[in-house]
Amino acid sequence: MAKILIVDDEQSIRTTLAKILEDEGHRTALCDSGEEALAQFARDEFDLIVLDLWLPGVDGMTVLERLRSAGAPPVIVISGHANIDTAVRATRLGAYDFLEKPLSLERVVLTINHALSDRKLRDQVKDLRRQVSEELLVGESEPMKTLEQHIRSAAPSNSRVLITGENGSGKEIVARTLHRLSHRAEQAFVDVNCAAIPEELIESELFGHRKGAFTGAIDERKGKFELADGGTLFLDEVADMSVRTQAKVLRVLQEQTFQKVGGQQPITVDVRVIAATNKDLEAEIARGTFRDDLYYRLNVIPIAVPPLRARANDVVLLAEHFLRRFAAETGTPRKRLSSGAATKLKGYHWPGNVRELRNVIERLAILLRGDTIEPEDVQLGTRGAAPAEIASDLTLKEARDAFEKQYILSRLREFAGNVSRTADALGVERSNLYRKLHAYGITVERP
Ligand SMILES: Nc1ncnc2c1ncn2[C@@H]1O[C@H](COP(=O)(O)OP(=O)(O)OP(=O)(O)O)[C@@H](O)[C@H]1O
Ligand SMILES: [Mg+2]
Repeated sequence: MAKILIVDDEQSIRTTLAKILEDEGHRTALCDSGEEALAQFARDEFDLIVLDLWLPGVDGMTVLERLRSAGAPPVIVISGHANIDTAVRATRLGAYDFLEKPLSLERVVLTINHALSDRKLRDQVKDLRRQVSEELLVGESEPMKTLEQHIRSAAPSNSRVLITGENGSGKEIVARTLHRLSHRAEQAFVDVNCAAIPEELIESELFGHRKGAFTGAIDERKGKFELADGGTLFLDEVADMSVRTQAKVLRVLQEQTFQKVGGQQPITVDVRVIAATNKDLEAEIARGTFRDDLYYRLNVIPIAVPPLRARANDVVLLAEHFLRRFAAETGTPRKRLSSGAATKLKGYHWPGNVRELRNVIERLAILLRGDTIEPEDVQLGTRGAAPAEIASDLTLKEARDAFEKQYILSRLREFAGNVSRTADALGVERSNLYRKLHAYGITVERP
């Protein structure tokens, strides 16, 4: 069922069209002037507009132009005084089709149905595009190629996968790609963020509950394990599960069956579990906060997602990818990266990984006025440039040297290996900086 706006000054045409379209199962709204049509369009949403060209007041061609530039749905133009010229003009202005009066009702219905199914297909393509580009793993660096190979070989098996990697490095996108390339792709991908669910709710979240199992359990509810039956369950931030919940999850993994909270009936499911964490699980095991038996169950195929700083060659590729995406999403022209800006992005340390890069680019895509991103437009955090911690058992001289080395390194990174600019920023002679680089064994790679 579609919602159709009919614009014609002849009442008989409005009512006849409305009748046949309603018989076809559509809803209609009618108006008799261009002004009224534009007002209705601004107020309401339509799937299609039928527009007469010969209207009192604002003429049909102008209405068509305004509708199209405001992003109207397909417009089918009708006219009683048609010649080829008007038909061509209307089509140029974006009319979907042009029908002559007297109208053949059969032809009208056919054209409308075509236009509607065209529109639906177009929307679907757009959705799919968005989905694919959101789930596209961008990167051509060696670590990314290796990662892709691992994903390709792990995906078709039914084995559990444990994905590790820093914050924002792409663990979730890897999990979704594993699902998409698996035999379960047509089935559900259900994700559970173990860190975001309060301890007292997690059991019901994972296993579901029976009506009345606890205060607030008003209805029977399916848990994530059941919702993922036949598909993939993604246990994100798995290290944040309490030891108690770990024990329950372990039991499901061993037996593939579980019970709802407050239920007796065992429920059997076929679920592939993919888990992810940014913590070092072996260290968590040593601290007693993660069960080693669960770890071995989850870690059948380990996949490590490299941090962004280990694949500097992907930085510009990713930045371009995000610029393209934001432009497509907002319908604005795509901004360009100047080579200076690209170098600056490449030289940064990216402690927040791809997510941080994405945020930087999103900000630029929205806030920058010009169409080219210059190095001074790129505002990077100081965290990525700050020296790391220094060991605590050093003599003062050793500590001073360690700090100096790290500081020089981080400033060098900030200036993408440009020694002259780094020397300027540090307020030392270039020759002096070279001497220090040599003394600290720092080799400078210029892109
Ligand atoms: N290789 C990549 N290509 C394209 N986009 C990527 C890539 N890696 C990550 N992203 C994007 O970066 C953002 C962060 O990725 P994701 O959520 O998968 O990271 P994560 O490792 O799960 O992070 P966290 O540890 O914070 O949960 C997402 O918007 C994701 O689409
Ligand atoms: Mg994540």
